Amino acid sequence: MRRLDGKSVLITGASSGIGRAIALRFANEGAHVVLADVTQTVREGGVPTLDLLREAGHDAEFVRTDVAVEADAQAAVDYTLRRHGRLDVLVNDAAISVGKPLLETSLDEWNRVFAVNLTGVFLMSRAAVCAMLAQPPQGEVRGRIVNVSSQHGMISAPGNVAYGTSKAGVVYLTRQIAADYAAHGIVCNAVAPGKIVTGKSGPAASAQAIDYSTARTPMRRLGRPDDVANAALFLASDEATFLTGDNLLVDGGWMAA
Ligand SMILES: NC(=O)c1ccc[n+]([C@@H]2O[C@H](COP(=O)([O-])OP(=O)(O)OC[C@H]3O[C@@H](n4cnc5c(N)ncnc54)[C@H](O)[C@@H]3O)[C@@H](O)[C@H]2O)c1
Repeated sequence: MRRLDGKSVLITGASSGIGRAIALRFANEGAHVVLADVTQTVREGGVPTLDLLREAGHDAEFVRTDVAVEADAQAAVDYTLRRHGRLDVLVNDAAISVGKPLLETSLDEWNRVFAVNLTGVFLMSRAAVCAMLAQPPQGEVRGRIVNVSSQHGMISAPGNVAYGTSKAGVVYLTRQIAADYAAHGIVCNAVAPGKIVTGKSGPAASAQAIDYSTARTPMRRLGRPDDVANAALFLASDEATFLTGDNLLVDGGWMAA
């Protein structure tokens, strides 16, 4: 038995970086994956996630989805239900960042970051929980949500006010959904990455920032998308019992130091 054998999983932001690693890891564990993203282009380069999965013989679909658009979020969940008959796991990974401090952030930038990073999680989770509540439980659980938050949901994101605040909202929303729907068989947790090397550009990816972050991390390396995928896999699997509302750090010890 693989750890997600036969599970129907919907993953936002699955075209690149951490979401892509989660899609590959989950498919290798037997999940049927639906990839939801605004694009199929891989930020860090390489063949699209859908092609990678299908070439490896996995069951995968892509549904073009802007998580900030209510109708898209609903359509992604509906598509998964039509294709697989149920939705076992939703992974909310999609996010954007403008990388600006308070005084340089326009209202439009603030609103856009919140629309994707927080409203997107709200819209996807609302549609998913509605579908999960209508399906019979498997064991104690009707459905699971794994949110990708950030260590910056707990400490400030240097010079990145909208991003950090939106991620704090994701940490809160994780607890709220967990508490409100635990009695109905919905399990909702988050994985909070530290510094993970993906295809992102900007100040956080500069050589200086990489050197600083490596030295600042007790494990003396930066994270890999697979590090986060491993933790997400645990939270998506039946091994995560009596565990909801949690925000699991995957940061090489950054927050402990
Ligand atoms: N990389 C890090 O160091 C790090 C650290 C902490 C948290 N995170 C979080 O991990 C997640 C993934 O980060 P990443 O580094 O892999 O980012 P990434 O930019 O490589 O990938 C993000 C994906 O989300 C998609 N996306 C963007 N807007 C979307 C929208 N409106 N609707 C649907 N999809 C959309 C993009 O197309 C892309 O495929 C994010 O939630 C991010 O905040 C990353």
